[in-house]
Amino acid sequence: MSQIEGRLGSAVPEDERPVVLPDAFEQARGIEPDEDVARWLRRHYASAVTIVTSFSDEGLFGVTVSAFAYISLEPLLVLVALGNDSQTGERIVASGSFGVSLLTNRHRFVADRFAGRAPLVDRRFSDVPHLMARTGSPLLADAIAWLDCRLESAQPGGDHTIYVGRALAVGHGTGDEEDPLLYFNSRYARLS
Ligand SMILES: Cc1cc2nc3c(=O)[nH]c(=O)nc-3n(C[C@H](O)[C@H](O)[C@H](O)COP(=O)(O)O)c2cc1C
Repeated sequence: MSQIEGRLGSAVPEDERPVVLPDAFEQARGIEPDEDVARWLRRHYASAVTIVTSFSDEGLFGVTVSAFAYISLEPLLVLVALGNDSQTGERIVASGSFGVSLLTNRHRFVADRFAGRAPLVDRRFSDVPHLMARTGSPLLADAIAWLDCRLESAQPGGDHTIYVGRALAVGHGTGDEEDPLLYFNSRYARLS
């Protein structure tokens, strides 16, 4: 099975799987979180959407990520959390670097593609307008902005790994900075 078939093969995307909420949670009595409740909580936290990229001898890699956060301004440190089986995560560790591109509302299809929900024409990003970071990752040219990061640490975080990066270079893309792509309750959204 090819990589793309494999990515598209998973029937229902993880974050669209139905969840069952215990009565005690719905009645606001408070419970120890199980995986369904954790999924519900994550879905009800509105976030922006990014593409996190890296590379290897096999080519360029990108993944749609909402678990992105700024940690420190000076130096500029950011984190991304990727599932422990992430192919992109493996490349980030091997290359010691990653790129982050901040998406606009016009990137809904791009976000679906890098989440494995729509076919990627090829892994070289040739049909996705991009530039190459100094550290080697592709960056979306029509993003709101991009960050070229050196990996500072990769820390276990349960079923995810937390990658902390130091931005060595940042750039303003051609995307509309007033129109970020948002994600809430498994749906894309925009500010207004
Ligand atoms: C809007 C959106 C946000 C996502 N955010 C994350 C995330 O923060 N971390 C993550 O591991 N996967 C996230 N995913 C799922 C990955 O994009 C998807 O599982 C992808 O196929 C993983 O590819 P990889 O193996 O290269 O990491 C998100 C998907 C969507 C549609």
